[in-house]
This record gives sequence, C-alpha cells and structure tokens, in this order.
Amino acid sequence: MKQLELSLKTISGQETYPVRHPVLREGRPLSECEFEGDEDATTIHLGLYSKEKLIGVATFLKKSNPCFSEKVQYQLRGMAILQRFQNKGHGKIILDEAEKLLSNKCHRIWFNARKIAVNFYEKNGYKKTGEPFEIANVGVHYVMTKKII
Ligand SMILES: CC(C)(COP(=O)(O)OP(=O)(O)OC[C@H]1O[C@@H](n2cnc3c(N)ncnc32)[C@H](O)[C@@H]1OP(=O)(O)O)[C@@H](O)C(=O)NCCC(=O)NCCS
Repeated sequence: MKQLELSLKTISGQETYPVRHPVLREGRPLSECEFEGDEDATTIHLGLYSKEKLIGVATFLKKSNPCFSEKVQYQLRGMAILQRFQNKGHGKIILDEAEKLLSNKCHRIWFNARKIAVNFYEKNGYKKTGEPFEIANVGVHYVMTKKII
C-alpha cells in the first residue's frame, strides 16, 4: 500500500455504515445501509483506514450473475469513499487489494455500476457489458466485470 498511514482490514457489515450512509444513502434511514447477504459467512467487507479513521468501504458477496459462466463469482456492492478522501487513489487501493484477496477464491468479479463511476472502474480494468438499466431512486447503471485469473 503506497501511503504509509493507510491500512486495509476486513470489517463487519455494520462497520461499513459510517461510510455507506453519507456516501450512498445520504438523508435516508440508517436501516437502508443494510444489504441482503451482509451477514453471509462468504461475504467480505473491506475497510480502508487512514490512521484510525475509516475512509472507504467495499463489500464482496459470493453471488453469480447468469450473464457469466464462471463457477465462482463475487459481486461488489457498496463501494464508497468519504467525499473529502475521493480522487486521491483510495478507491483504486481497495480494488487492487480486493482482487489480490479474491484471486484464490473466485474467477470473476461483477457489479452494477452507477453511470458516474463507470470511468473509475474502466481505469481499473473493468468492462461494461450489456445495456444500461435503471435502478429506482439511484439512476442509470451498467453491469461491469473483470475476470480474475
Ligand atoms: C467511485 C469512488 C468509489 C471512487 O473512489 P476514489 O477514491 O474517488 O477513486 P480514485 O481516487 O482511485 O479514482 C478516482 C479518480 O481520481 C483520479 N485520481 C487518482 N489518484 C489521484 C490523485 N492523487 N490526484 C488526483 N486525481 C487522482 C483517478 O484517475 C480517477 O479518475 P476518474 O474520475 O477519471 O476515473 C468514489 O469516488 C465514491 O465513493 N463515489 C461516490 C459513491 C459511488 O459512486 N460509488 C460507486 C457506486 S457503483
């Protein structure tokens, strides 16, 4: 990890809320921060800390998308960096470390990406697939994916 004060840890689903809530569910009830599968034994929540402060989170759920043929696939959900820490390479650090961690567990990562985040994911080697689609209250999304190993 480049910046010395940064550390990445596995955390619980609820520990992601201080980042999920302001970044992904601003102004909505805290209960909307809970995702289906958060508590599954195969789910991995990653937290990026700057010193002691949690600044970014991402969740990886063992879940297959029928568009892809690989036997073991993980879905990325809830990728978020606190606003004042965005555009500093923190998102890339989480994705890079997650790919290393998942490389012996799965063959493909996929997710529904918000249109505004598509550039970020493309720069990190993910590709759009299929037509854009609407998720109610959130907006236009694309399925994006990368084959792992
Ligand atoms: C999308 C998101 C997770 C990306 O995380 P991030 O830490 O901002 O991402 P990075 O800093 O690694 O990359 C973002 C951009 O900053 C640029 N960047 C990286 N390091 C930089 C630096 N040191 N100085 C300036 N720019 C930098 C990258 O090139 C990238 O450019 P792009 O916007 O053209 O893709 C984050 O911005 C976020 O939480 N957004 C709101 C929630 C969201 O949309 N989540 C995704 C749901 S699908």
